[in-house]
Amino acid sequence: MMALLAAALLVPALGLGSGLSAARSGAEGGRGDFAFVNPILPGFHPDPSCVFSDVEETFYCASSSFNVFPGIPIHASTDLREWRLVGNVLNRASQLPELSLSNGSTSGIWAPALRLYNGTFYVVTTLVHDKKAADDPERWDNIIFSTPDIWNESQWSDAVHFDFEGYDTSPYWDEQGNEYIVGSHAYHVEPGIHLNKVNLKTGEMSGNWTNLWNGTGGLAPEGPHLYKKDGYHYLMIAEGGTGLGHMETIARSKDLYGPYIANPANPILTNANTTEYFQTVGHADLFHDANGNWWGVALATRSGPEYVTYPMGRETVLTNVTWENGSWPVFNNPVKGEFQGWRLPNSTRELEGDGPLVTEGDDSLQFSPDAKLPPYFIHWRPPIIENYAISPPGHPNTLRLKSSKLNLTGIDGNAGGPGGQTFVGRRQVDTLFTYRVDIDYTPETLEEEAGVTLFLTQNHHARTGLTLLPSNTTNSSSLVPHFRFHAISNIHVPPSFSMPVPVPLRNTPLTFEIRTANETHYTFAVGAVNSEDPLTILAYVPGDIVSWGFTGTLVGVYATSNGGEGKTEAFVSNWSYVSEGQVRG
Ligand SMILES: *[C@@H]1O[C@H](CO)[C@@H](O)[C@H](O)[C@H]1NC(C)=O
Ligand SMILES: *[C@@H]1O[C@H](CO)[C@@H](O)[C@H](O)[C@H]1NC(C)=O
Ligand SMILES: *[C@@H]1O[C@H](CO)[C@@H](O)[C@H](O)[C@H]1NC(C)=O
Ligand SMILES: *[C@@H]1O[C@H](CO)[C@@H](O)[C@H](O)[C@H]1NC(C)=O
Ligand SMILES: *[C@@H]1O[C@H](CO)[C@@H](O)[C@H](O)[C@H]1NC(C)=O
Ligand SMILES: *[C@@H]1O[C@H](CO)[C@@H](O)[C@H](O)[C@H]1NC(C)=O
Ligand SMILES: *[C@@H]1O[C@H](CO)[C@@H](O)[C@H](O)[C@H]1NC(C)=O
Ligand SMILES: *[C@@H]1O[C@H](CO)[C@@H](O)[C@H](O)[C@H]1NC(C)=O
Ligand SMILES: *[C@@H]1O[C@H](CO)[C@@H](O)[C@H](O)[C@H]1NC(C)=O
Ligand SMILES: *[C@@H]1O[C@H](CO)[C@@H](O)[C@H](O)[C@H]1NC(C)=O
Ligand SMILES: *[C@@H]1O[C@H](CO)[C@@H](O)[C@H](O)[C@H]1NC(C)=O
Ligand SMILES: *[C@@H]1O[C@H](CO)[C@@H](O)[C@H](O)[C@H]1NC(C)=O
Repeated sequence: MMALLAAALLVPALGLGSGLSAARSGAEGGRGDFAFVNPILPGFHPDPSCVFSDVEETFYCASSSFNVFPGIPIHASTDLREWRLVGNVLNRASQLPELSLSNGSTSGIWAPALRLYNGTFYVVTTLVHDKKAADDPERWDNIIFSTPDIWNESQWSDAVHFDFEGYDTSPYWDEQGNEYIVGSHAYHVEPGIHLNKVNLKTGEMSGNWTNLWNGTGGLAPEGPHLYKKDGYHYLMIAEGGTGLGHMETIARSKDLYGPYIANPANPILTNANTTEYFQTVGHADLFHDANGNWWGVALATRSGPEYVTYPMGRETVLTNVTWENGSWPVFNNPVKGEFQGWRLPNSTRELEGDGPLVTEGDDSLQFSPDAKLPPYFIHWRPPIIENYAISPPGHPNTLRLKSSKLNLTGIDGNAGGPGGQTFVGRRQVDTLFTYRVDIDYTPETLEEEAGVTLFLTQNHHARTGLTLLPSNTTNSSSLVPHFRFHAISNIHVPPSFSMPVPVPLRNTPLTFEIRTANETHYTFAVGAVNSEDPLTILAYVPGDIVSWGFTGTLVGVYATSNGGEGKTEAFVSNWSYVSEGQVRG
């Protein structure tokens, strides 16, 4: 309600030319000053880590990106309500070439920890090769990125590697400026939280890993962050696994190396054993605003306790936190979709940067000749650059796709390959939405295919494309364009099928649509571009088939020869993604 009110105020304020700040101060004095909605980063934005820059009066958050590229998105806000994409830490494949070799639906970048120290931003994270055994040192590739200018993507360093056989690594500085890393071990020793001294520039470790704490006995103690406050070192971690039992716990010690004493009030944050719509709350981080008020972010899943349909996966939520001198931080439990916290910062500073607000849709993107792919357009692993071109000669205002041999399922259901998988998409960030593109494509070779996909992982997605298949009627040697629907998941999926394209729809650009029919189902539809007729629904897809694992759904386009020789190009235009509603409870 309050968010709608703020949005309504925005329009006349902008009309008067007084800008965003006028809209904000217009809401001052009312409940709106304290009210915000969750998730703050809807869609595939798990494992949040955030900092506040006093100098810039700006909050910044990083989130996990697994296999997608560009990866590790950074969002910024001055008021904790509107979050703008600043850019991606991982924006050049050369920063971390190993990501291209990632094998596994749950592999890739896990849990970046974002910190600001002495004017430099650091992201410490792990490239996890999740198909390798837990006691295989090669499973865990721990890395550091840094930048002096978070607003300029190209300033992010290449990955600096350091040795740690574990994950969820996070940096810490003591008062002398010594640099440390705290991380979670999950191999042949018992799971636990470990600390070591590191040189963040070189990745060199200068001590031995010391086991600080093992948590309160929950599954998978992980996601550690260290904070120093009022003479104590606070070590906050996640436990219980990232599902329904997820929770946040904390311990403290006057000495950095321990012993750490657990908070008797643990867990300090959890929605476990509640009937809340938001579940799996945990993997939290803490920061304060310019007024000294504390806030926490965590991941959450909008699934209800049924935990069956949650296609957007793990998202970022915000809660206010009370942290009095000398005592433990207290989170606002349980996490809800409409929340009252501390007075929200009323910064008048406009956020720079050309990234969109995280909640913004795509209003008929045209891929005009001077355009680049926007920073929220993502590939599955770093792309083969030449497979994508904007407004190539003779095809203005289109995105040209060259097919990959592999289709979206790829090799072994989990790996990519040297030729990649031609795909570009964006996150689903709304419970209800319509995604639509026009595709100009006339397949000329058997089995080659281009179309749209609702994509979670290589082995959890649905796709509908245009392809060329043998006719089995009169002349068995002729090839006929077909629509083909295919879905794959760990649970029962709608059956695959193909059907000849109706004659009026052949050799003409087509509109492909993915739309939410309701909170639990999607439709795939197709029709002639610019036709007055409604699109024809080809398939219904339950959201359950893309409710799995660690990532969240994407919608996008793909082109493949399905292992054959086809090389026909597909031209995508009029890309739109329109929000039709957000369910928060
Ligand atoms: C991916 O991992 C699976 C399971 O370990 C293995 O069989 C397969 O060979 C791997 N594929 C690639 C391309 O590394
Ligand atoms: C902070 O950075 C400046 C240079 O930018 C450097 O001279 C100084 O030593 C740094 N301070 C700490 C505590 O690292
Ligand atoms: C961003 O940084 C690059 C160097 O990495 C520099 O060439 C470029 O001018 C910078 N852009 C802006 C807008 O400052
Ligand atoms: C690390 O541990 C080894 C063996 O326990 C010990 O010999 C060495 O001195 C330790 N190094 C440091 C820097 O603490
Ligand atoms: C963590 O658990 C291991 C194995 O049970 C134990 O050896 C170690 O002492 C524990 N660490 C702490 C800090 O309690
Ligand atoms: C949820 O309830 C189960 C069963 O009573 C219990 O084992 C678990 O500790 C509870 N989890 C939390 C976070 O309270
Ligand atoms: C917190 O309490 C300690 C001891 O009670 C005191 O020395 C310190 O000044 C207090 N800090 C703040 C910020 O109030
Ligand atoms: C959250 O903020 C509200 C004010 O809107 C306050 O009453 C409540 O005590 C705060 N809760 C926590 C845990 O900080
Ligand atoms: C922001 O809020 C503070 C109170 O927290 C108030 O004193 C200040 O005038 C406000 N600034 C603007 C620009 O509205
Ligand atoms: C050929 O037969 C298959 C299945 O029997 C059917 O799906 C397909 O549409 C048919 N093709 C044509 C061109 O009729
Ligand atoms: C959602 O849509 C699907 C497909 O049309 C339908 O089967 C299902 O009953 C609908 N669910 C609700 C709650 O309306
Ligand atoms: C996807 O490609 C593989 C070969 O890489 C092929 O075996 C499979 O049939 C293809 N799937 C479809 C639906 O064409």
